[in-house]
Amino acid sequence: LIYYNATLYNETPIASTNYDKLEASAKARLDPAAYDYAAGGAGLETTVANNRAAFSKWSIRPRVMREVYPNRNLTTTLFNKTLPAPVVMAPVGVQTLYHPDGERATASVFGELGLPYTLSTATSTGFADVAKANGVNGTRWYQLYWPSDDDLTRSYLNVAKSNGYDVLVVTVDTWDLGWRTRDLDRGFFPFIRGIGVQIGLEDPVAHQKLGFNPLAKNATAEQKQTAALYHVITTSRGISPVWDRLPFLREAWGDGPIVLKGVQTAEDARLAVQHGIDGVIVSNHGGRQIDGAIGSLDALYDVTNAVKGQLVIGFDGGIRGGADIFKALAIGADFVQVGRPVLWGLAHEGAKGVRHVMKSLLAEFELTVGLAGCQHVQELNRTHLVHV
Ligand code: FNR
Repeated sequence: LIYYNATLYNETPIASTNYDKLEASAKARLDPAAYDYAAGGAGLETTVANNRAAFSKWSIRPRVMREVYPNRNLTTTLFNKTLPAPVVMAPVGVQTLYHPDGERATASVFGELGLPYTLSTATSTGFADVAKANGVNGTRWYQLYWPSDDDLTRSYLNVAKSNGYDVLVVTVDTWDLGWRTRDLDRGFFPFIRGIGVQIGLEDPVAHQKLGFNPLAKNATAEQKQTAALYHVITTSRGISPVWDRLPFLREAWGDGPIVLKGVQTAEDARLAVQHGIDGVIVSNHGGRQIDGAIGSLDALYDVTNAVKGQLVIGFDGGIRGGADIFKALAIGADFVQVGRPVLWGLAHEGAKGVRHVMKSLLAEFELTVGLAGCQHVQELNRTHLVHV
């Protein structure tokens, strides 16, 4: 019991092991705008609720008196790398909103745990600094908000590759931002501008196009803002990337894996297979894009029915405890991603809080696997669940 023992015998944890209490104490520590930006969803936040509700529609069927040993095996191979557990950091932008150490803190903990870290295009810390915090042995993925400017795209991908990010995750559900009422009510653009997106600021091609370097000592405040906006405008421009553009991305990225994040239907999952894509992540962006959309776990059921075994299938949206990881894998996901829980951890003294949250999640997952009568994650399948 790698994770469980380590958690049990530690000193009193830095935050609660219960998700609702963890979120409440993070809320008390955070600026209300930062809390709302993370906690909120689109419109009436029905999709956020659907994501959780989808989990309650499945119950675990525990098997007993089976040979389950303490050295339970959660290891999984993803894109030719063996990982200690099928758990990945979801790409989340501007993490310095939650603690000054931001992406450095989250990347360092995922590096320690040997789990993949996905860097968001909307990061508040540069590629190289995050890679350094993640460590030489870290597994790094890069999430792309696909710019309309091909030169900028090439530049992002080259910098990502040269810093050891070797899986490309293309987010396809956020070519425009959802109707996020909590942010809109605060005055949308000043809020987004104020949150300190970094990448547009440090990109050499962006500097060339702008005709100035916003990071230069003599750069004016206005130039810094213009650079961040250049990035925002060339990505969230209200025009969706389309399937026909994938060959460009394949050429620009090379042979490494390409994963589409934000696929929610069997039809699109089949199209991904037809286009030679290496993986999909079933996700509705944590309910932040469309209000009233299908719960992500319900979408996972449809997608795994359609394409299981034909490409790698990831999942995110509403993972709050170990039993949730169990259910997503048993339905058919090859890995899961964790979003908001990591941010609430980050709000508790940076890396310390992230470590607490991730170790607790892994411990509860490991324990659930055993108590349900399983020894390896590969054994998880739909016979361990009932739809209620
Ligand atoms: C996100 N998410 C996200 N996704 C992405 O592809 N790029 C990004 O920059 C971000 N940024 C971001 C910021 C914040 C504050 C949140 C909460 C989410 C979506 C994220 O990757 C993931 O899909 C959801 O967070 C998963 O749902 P849970 O685990 O938060 O319920």
